[in-house]
Amino acid sequence: MKFNEALIATLREEALKASKQAYAPYSKLHVGAALLANDGNIYRGANVENASYGLTLCAERAAVAAALQAISQNRENLVEAIYIVNTKLPAIPPCGACRQVLYEFGHGGIIFFDGQDGVKKSSIEKLLPEAFRLNV
Ligand code: THU
Repeated sequence: MKFNEALIATLREEALKASKQAYAPYSKLHVGAALLANDGNIYRGANVENASYGLTLCAERAAVAAALQAISQNRENLVEAIYIVNTKLPAIPPCGACRQVLYEFGHGGIIFFDGQDGVKKSSIEKLLPEAFRLNV
């Protein structure tokens, strides 16, 4: 099985490392994401808040942006998995905006979300069954 315990543990560690780099002085919720990309590498992202609250960037979208800087081919299948962690709240799944962005860069990817109540597992399809697309 591809997502064995060791890989999941590595993703969790990377996501925790990412959360340490969050910029979240307003919500104080430090979110980290570790994205396993189709090149086999893990890319990290953390939330970046702003005094103009609505400009906040979520950890998931930061991780997607980081991966895109390294990968130039087959980007439509970029996301193999993403592990999202915070240490303050129960596990939080990606927000609606992040679901749509994740959908853009891969279908069938696994989404792990982790928090004070442990880790949950889902998929992009399950979390956004009727994604917006231009080519319907
Ligand atoms: N946040 C994320 O980074 N990812 C999500 O999917 C939900 C929310 C961040 C945005 C903001 O900095 C903080 O969590 C509180 O909403």
